[in-house]
Amino acid sequence: MRQKLVAGNWKMHGGLKANLQLLQGVLAGVADLKGMSVAVCVPFPYLAQAQSVLTGTPVAWGAQNLSEQPQGAFTGEVSAAMLNDFACKYVLVGHSERRAIYGETDALVAEKFAAALAAGLRPVLCVGETLAQRDAGQTIDVVSAQIEAVLKRVGVAAFADAVVAYEPVWAIGTGRTATAAQAQEVHAAIRAQIARADAKVAEGLQILYGGSMKPGNAVELLGMPDIDGGLIGGAALVAADFLAICRAAVQ
Ligand code: PGA
Repeated sequence: MRQKLVAGNWKMHGGLKANLQLLQGVLAGVADLKGMSVAVCVPFPYLAQAQSVLTGTPVAWGAQNLSEQPQGAFTGEVSAAMLNDFACKYVLVGHSERRAIYGETDALVAEKFAAALAAGLRPVLCVGETLAQRDAGQTIDVVSAQIEAVLKRVGVAAFADAVVAYEPVWAIGTGRTATAAQAQEVHAAIRAQIARADAKVAEGLQILYGGSMKPGNAVELLGMPDIDGGLIGGAALVAADFLAICRAAVQ
């Protein structure tokens, strides 16, 4: 049985004071959540704060991006080793905002995934289709090409140390969630794709759903057989909402 994981993606939100309140609010409610994992992916400057507040608690932390390069003259970039200096467990890779706004290609995402793994970080590979692609019936093709690019680069065994997040672009921050059935269909397809390469890895792979997951829809989404947790944007900025989603993962 796969454990559920609920991970917050704070995006470019926060500040030292607000973060402390939010993290303390989350910590106040996580003690009784057994049999699932909780994490927050925070902006780079707040990794030290996350480490200091969360060390020794059940909440893990991570980053939202990393460089594909190990070190060097790459102004503005942050390496996997730097994330390790702050004891990150997770790092998001290929979030649709990185792909769409910053031009990250499947090939670059695969390099970042490999860099994270090589440093012992757990990459959370984000995949998902746009509304136009869904309307054109291309959802499974798009998602499977995004997965394939990483599979080709690192091999299927690497997915034993990774997480996948299915995030339909049209559902992110829009209040428009995929129905549980729509999400389940894609999650099952992702698992089947991995299973064609290695059934055991596929069986153990956590596949999260992301895109306007809220307390009101989390129970239904997290009740689907191939939805192993959530990647939470907006609702992760409100401790009560984030905790409600975490509780939905243990029901
Ligand atoms: P959302 O964002 O929950 O605000 O839709 C999810 C994400 O982008 O990871």
